[in-house]
Amino acid sequence: MNVFITGANRGLGLAFVSYYLDHGHSVYACHRGNTGGLSLMQDNPDLHVLEWDVTTEPDSTLLEALPDSIDLLINNAGIYGPMKNGQTLEAVTADTMHHVYDVNCVAPLRVVQTLLDRLTRPGATIANVSSKMGSSTDNSSGGTYAYRAAKAALAIVSKSMAMDLEGQGIRVITLHPGWVRTDMGGESGLIDTTESVSGMASVIDDIDKYKPGAFVAFDGAIVPY
Ligand SMILES: NC(=O)c1ccc[n+]([C@@H]2O[C@H](COP(=O)([O-])OP(=O)(O)OC[C@H]3O[C@@H](n4cnc5c(N)ncnc54)[C@H](OP(=O)(O)O)[C@@H]3O)[C@@H](O)[C@H]2O)c1
Repeated sequence: MNVFITGANRGLGLAFVSYYLDHGHSVYACHRGNTGGLSLMQDNPDLHVLEWDVTTEPDSTLLEALPDSIDLLINNAGIYGPMKNGQTLEAVTADTMHHVYDVNCVAPLRVVQTLLDRLTRPGATIANVSSKMGSSTDNSSGGTYAYRAAKAALAIVSKSMAMDLEGQGIRVITLHPGWVRTDMGGESGLIDTTESVSGMASVIDDIDKYKPGAFVAFDGAIVPY
């Protein structure tokens, strides 16, 4: 299987890279300038390291380095935006709203538009990594305006993709990784990247059990949104 992953130099993206390499797949792993943990794996002939800041159009060298067919596209790259009190009702700015939306929602759409003509093999799958923070049902504490709104928008975009691509046999799922110990999730996260990624990979394996565009957590639970 050819697996394409954005934001793959650290955190969950890097753990996805390890997982799919360990399971014998070819991995096309993107970073945006800092190869990070990918540099330690570069001897693996199944790993293809590519540069793409997903808020921009990819350059032609990236497209030339890609295989004709991608079986699994994981839109993982994301940002939280300002931490602490930077996203309160009083503090959040229009610039923050736009930037966080650009990275977390517009960029995954761009990635799919760019790679769609390579998602041709039967069973091709798109996994969009959102967050429970984007669930309206789950929002009992307010705040975090930019991140919540952007991840909610990604879930809606992902659902439309699922509807639009079902006829072509392309499966689309929205994922919640859990609260994970990464740079974004912080040290208090409830699970590590290995548990999160192996759980999300199982959900992807079982994608036909879920409705197109379902929002599913790493443990298989449906996220109402
Ligand atoms: N950790 C959690 O608890 C948690 C919970 C729910 C959802 N998520 C979601 O899971 C995904 C991965 O999170 P994480 O915890 O692994 O975060 P992370 O440790 O902060 O890593 C984020 C990754 O995204 C990349 N990235 C950011 N902006 C980018 C851009 N414009 N173009 C390309 N790559 C970009 C980063 O690259 P650089 O190294 O260059 O910055 C990095 O590789 C995100 O979508 C996040 O929202 C995480």
